[in-house]
Amino acid sequence: MRRPLFIARQSGLPRGPLGRLIAAIMVRETASTNRQAIAALEIRPGDSALDIGCGSGLSVELLLRLVPKGRVTGADPSPVMAARAKARNYRAIASGLAEIATAPVEHLPFPDASFDAVMSVHTLYFWADLDIALREIVRVLRPGGRLVLACRTPANPAAAASFPAEIYTLRGLSEIEEALRDAGLQITASTADEPGGEPALIRAHKP
Ligand SMILES: C[S@@+](CC[C@H](N)C(=O)[O-])C[C@H]1O[C@@H](n2cnc3c(N)ncnc32)[C@H](O)[C@@H]1O
Repeated sequence: MRRPLFIARQSGLPRGPLGRLIAAIMVRETASTNRQAIAALEIRPGDSALDIGCGSGLSVELLLRLVPKGRVTGADPSPVMAARAKARNYRAIASGLAEIATAPVEHLPFPDASFDAVMSVHTLYFWADLDIALREIVRVLRPGGRLVLACRTPANPAAAASFPAEIYTLRGLSEIEEALRDAGLQITASTADEPGGEPALIRAHKP
C-alpha cells in the first residue's frame, strides 16, 4: 500500500511531535537492518565509526559496544533525530566516546580521513545527489576504510509500490555500485533487496 505523503515526508526528515512519533516507530522497524550493516562493517576495537542519517541513535549505541578503544559519531540533518540520538547516547557523549552532529551527508562537518568505518541505513533515498554524497563519504573515510549502505531498491515491487516517488528516490543496485566505483571505492560484497526480507546491502572499501 502506498505510504501517505505526509508520513513519507516525515520519514525523510522527521519534524515536530509527529516526527518524534515516527522516529519511535522507525527505530523498531530498522533495528535488524542496522545490526546487519554493523556486522558487515567488521568493526575493530580501535575504529572510529560514523553512521550517516543515524536517526534515533540505536546504531551509535550498538557500535559503541564494539569499539572500546575507538569512537562513534552519528550525523543526521533532522534536529528531532539528532536530539533523540543525543539523548539515547548521552553518557558516551559526556565521556567523549561519542558525538552526534546535526548534518546531512552532503556537508559532513568532519575533517578528511576521520573514519575507519561509515554506514548508512535507509537514507540513500533522500540524498539529493548520489555522486556529491559519495564524494563527501570518500573524503571522510581513511584509506583502507569500509563503507556499508543498506536500502530498498526498485527490484522490490513492495518498496516501489509503497514509497511515494515524490519523496523517495529508489536507486537500483547497479546504479549504486557504479556510483561507488566512480567515487573511487571498491565493492567487496553486495546482496540484493529481498522482497519481504532484508534490504540491499552493499559493502565497499576505500583503497
Ligand atoms: C528512514 S530514516 C532511517 C534512520 C536510521 N538510519 C535507521 O535505520 O533507523 C531516514 C533518516 O535519514 C535522514 N536523512 C534525510 N536526508 C538526509 C541526508 N541528506 N543526509 C543524511 N541523512 C538524511 C533523516 O533525517 C532520517 O533520520
